[in-house]
Amino acid sequence: MVKDYSPLRTKGHKGVGLILAATLALLLYIFRGFFWSSSAVHSPAQVAVISRCRGLQMQPGPPDDFHDRSESDRFVPETRPHLIQNAKMWTGRNNGTEVFIGDILIDKGLIKGVGHFGTAALLKTYGSDLVVIDAKNAWVTPGIVDIHSHMGNGPAPILQGASDGNSPKGTIQPWLRSIDALHTHDESYPLSVAGGITTALILPGSGNAIGGQAFVIKLRKTAERSSTSMVLEPPFTVNSSFPDPTHPPRWRHMKHACGENPSLWYSSTRMDTMWAFREAYNTASQIKKQQDEYCSKALANEWDGLGEFPESLQWEALVDVVRGRVKVQIHCYEQVDLDGIVRLSNEFKFPVSAFHHAAEAYLVSDLIKKTYGPTPAIAIFATNARYKREAYRHSEFAPRILAENGMTVLMKSDHPVLNSRYLMYEAQQAYYYGLPENLAIASVTSNPAEVMGMGHRIGYIKEGWDADLVIWDSHPLALGATPIQVFIDGIPQLEDVYVVEKPKAFQYAPSVPNFDKEAQEAVKYEGLPPLEPAFVKTRPVVFVNVQSVLTPDASSIQEVFLAADDGALGTVVVENGQITCVGVCSMATDAMIIDLEAGSISPGLVTFGSPLGLEHIQSEPSTTDGTVYDPLSSKGVPEIVGGDGAIIRAADGLLFRTRDALLAYRAGVTSAVVAPTTPGIFAGLSGVFGGLGVSFSLGAAHKLERGAVLQEVTGVHMRVMQALPGPSVSTQIALLRRLLLRPVDGPSKEWFLKVTNGEIPLVVEVHGADIIASLILLKKEVENASGQTIQMTIVGATEAHLLAKELGEAGVGVILNPAKPFPFFWELHRLLAGPPTTEHTAVSALMVHNVTVALGVMETWDARNTRFEIAWASLASGGKMSKADVLALGSTNVAKLLGVKAPQKLTQDLVATRGGDLLSLNSKVVAVISASRGLVDLFTAFPGQ
Ligand SMILES: *[C@@H]1O[C@H](CO)[C@@H](O)[C@H](O)[C@H]1NC(C)=O
Ligand SMILES: *[C@@H]1O[C@H](CO)[C@@H](O)[C@H](O)[C@H]1NC(C)=O
Ligand SMILES: *[C@@H]1O[C@H](CO)[C@@H](O)[C@H](O)[C@H]1NC(C)=O
Ligand SMILES: *[C@@H]1O[C@H](CO)[C@@H](O)[C@H](O)[C@H]1NC(C)=O
Repeated sequence: MVKDYSPLRTKGHKGVGLILAATLALLLYIFRGFFWSSSAVHSPAQVAVISRCRGLQMQPGPPDDFHDRSESDRFVPETRPHLIQNAKMWTGRNNGTEVFIGDILIDKGLIKGVGHFGTAALLKTYGSDLVVIDAKNAWVTPGIVDIHSHMGNGPAPILQGASDGNSPKGTIQPWLRSIDALHTHDESYPLSVAGGITTALILPGSGNAIGGQAFVIKLRKTAERSSTSMVLEPPFTVNSSFPDPTHPPRWRHMKHACGENPSLWYSSTRMDTMWAFREAYNTASQIKKQQDEYCSKALANEWDGLGEFPESLQWEALVDVVRGRVKVQIHCYEQVDLDGIVRLSNEFKFPVSAFHHAAEAYLVSDLIKKTYGPTPAIAIFATNARYKREAYRHSEFAPRILAENGMTVLMKSDHPVLNSRYLMYEAQQAYYYGLPENLAIASVTSNPAEVMGMGHRIGYIKEGWDADLVIWDSHPLALGATPIQVFIDGIPQLEDVYVVEKPKAFQYAPSVPNFDKEAQEAVKYEGLPPLEPAFVKTRPVVFVNVQSVLTPDASSIQEVFLAADDGALGTVVVENGQITCVGVCSMATDAMIIDLEAGSISPGLVTFGSPLGLEHIQSEPSTTDGTVYDPLSSKGVPEIVGGDGAIIRAADGLLFRTRDALLAYRAGVTSAVVAPTTPGIFAGLSGVFGGLGVSFSLGAAHKLERGAVLQEVTGVHMRVMQALPGPSVSTQIALLRRLLLRPVDGPSKEWFLKVTNGEIPLVVEVHGADIIASLILLKKEVENASGQTIQMTIVGATEAHLLAKELGEAGVGVILNPAKPFPFFWELHRLLAGPPTTEHTAVSALMVHNVTVALGVMETWDARNTRFEIAWASLASGGKMSKADVLALGSTNVAKLLGVKAPQKLTQDLVATRGGDLLSLNSKVVAVISASRGLVDLFTAFPGQ
């Protein structure tokens, strides 16, 4: 039912309340002598002390008359009023369940009204100044609120002159302030605004136990261009380190961290960190006690010998924490660390606003409820996990489990760890894995707003709230949801918007699959549920109610079956991992029947770009294959390994069935190509020389199993980047030229000759367009010398779109990694942002020039999301790609570009999805039909299994 709100403020009971309050205040004033001593006449200094002492008892929040405001403190004069008509609003009311269809009037930086407005009447009031936008029934949400961001503190691109996230000066630093390092030229601001982010809490890093004070900012540019002018409700003015005692204080914010990060940064232990906390809190508590004693004397007029108010500029912020006037945000993953903070908060009696990362929070809700004060919220990632020991037990089901346990769930970016432009994607994934729709949207809007103490002005679409709004091109929880317009303080942020047509179904929340059993198992096995599939080898498997079947052949992906309608769903029979019948088939009596409920069978996806298959836990060297020697470093490659002629095969280091590999497998990624790991960019080594890639099955248990290694050697992998700390880019290219034109004697010679003969590809990780241009010339130079065409693939390739034509002409293929661009380094910053900012994405721009394109992933945990990445790329290109082309982005093109021989019928793995196709949030991957291994792997229990 459509509800109607009056645009006029009705005072009603509130008016009566105000009169009562005013009367009471007057009485208190008249009889003030009865309430506190009126015998003394106070000196100005004493008046100041009394005011200060009374101020200490005030709790933070907006002034009582906050909602009487008719203009935002952030209003920018000249901003035109806007009327957004025909909006389908998620208001945030009623626990996030209210959807209201109507109009939103914004003016003076505020939402002036939500209802049904006659344009004529408004035009009378506002004249031609009023901008009328017909939202045509589009979804509108409050601006996205990110409770955990480092935007500005670690600006993109990373440059050593502005890396201000963690202080090296000690682990306890409550006196540091993120605003003092809030860079305004971070290239992320406009990108994240284009994703609908309007507000973020900027936290210091997690290298310190107490990293410092955090600040809430709005992401828009200000006329003043200053850091300070971005801050929302600053707790004190630029002239002071202290709140104005005559006003209710505003919320302050502070970052704490426990566990691995402070231990590693300060070469200490968890025990040291907890002592550092207790020592600091003891100091703050003692100062508070002195202040309270001082104030009780001052307020009792016992001035004799009282002296100065006991103040400490260094500790005042932590003193405010023990006064309960600071929202404390604590980076804390594991039970052991959460437990320590729960004890700390009870020992020193301070509340915790939220635990962040909190990978194990879903396993210990009862513990977290024992925190002093209100139960903290939990701010987490959706599927980003296992990158370190502490995150090993995180679960994609954590958001729903936490919600079921009555906890407030927030999705956060930790920007630039995740690009906050896609914070809504985190909510989409949380929703896919079972967080209810209302809570999923609340997790990035009203809930973080409340948790950061700003719920009185942001996070809702309500009259009187800040005019921070996002108009979406689809339901916000539909995959690929993209803003059409973003308002901050009533100011439209996007110019020249490119709007992409979305399928009609995308105007509704996807009807996501059921994961109840998986969620229960996550808890039962404390985050490590068994992931190995059950396989069927001896019986035929029959898939019924199949909507479509797509299979790859040597050159492309073919649709071999498509049901005309739901009444004509097909059947697929599989024996020994091979499809033996598609369409109308008879069934053997011993066959196992699997109902796909209008699902699909598609090619298995192929992942590349992360060390998947070479590591279990990224930051634990003892769980990984390690890195290769670096021939350009001063130590070089030991002679006994082959010296300058050495070449390393990734196949020799393969680790099967890592959790990330199994999770990817369960999400339809059947194989991976991985190259030897070069030293990381931050390792202080050149990291140019990779080695030989390998293609392997993600379903196999070990290397000796049938079909485990699909191709022992795929291509030769190298890297050329400015960001590498080793020798110059020109030196890196000189090395490549030398190896291609005059290969060094030794084991590598054979492989470089294969490259120059065009037998295997040279795969180069490179991002900058100028370096890509040099590589195109190098390719021509080598081809001219050898008379053969070489296969070159560039990986990373963030600036490749600038040379789309040249890459097309040179026949160089591209694997975009990351799939969605971000300016991590200088050489990536001429990225193509895609809609709503630019018409083209890198994928579509390259395809115009017939460049073979594929998508990669950067980190192993993300391999499981390949199906969503390719779907996203297709949605962002406006649905102009065929389904076969979309699937190729994550399967056949990846394989082809890396030198994996075209799949034969006997080796191609296929994926069965139930309830929809592989690209949809409606579907669940239920089986892999593995030709390479001669079996069907099942991921869920089926009757008769
Ligand atoms: C809010 O919504 C969730 C999920 O829809 C529900 O479980 C919870 O009980 C609701 N809370 C309130 C206070 O209505
Ligand atoms: C800060 O100090 C400046 C200079 O004395 C003054 O003009 C300004 O009004 C002060 N601002 C506030 C918010 O007190
Ligand atoms: C190609 O090679 C020939 C000789 O082998 C040389 O004269 C010519 O300059 C080369 N062209 C390019 C573009 O490198
Ligand atoms: C791309 O390929 C198509 C089909 O082969 C061809 O018609 C078109 O001209 C090509 N485009 C470019 C830019 O080469």
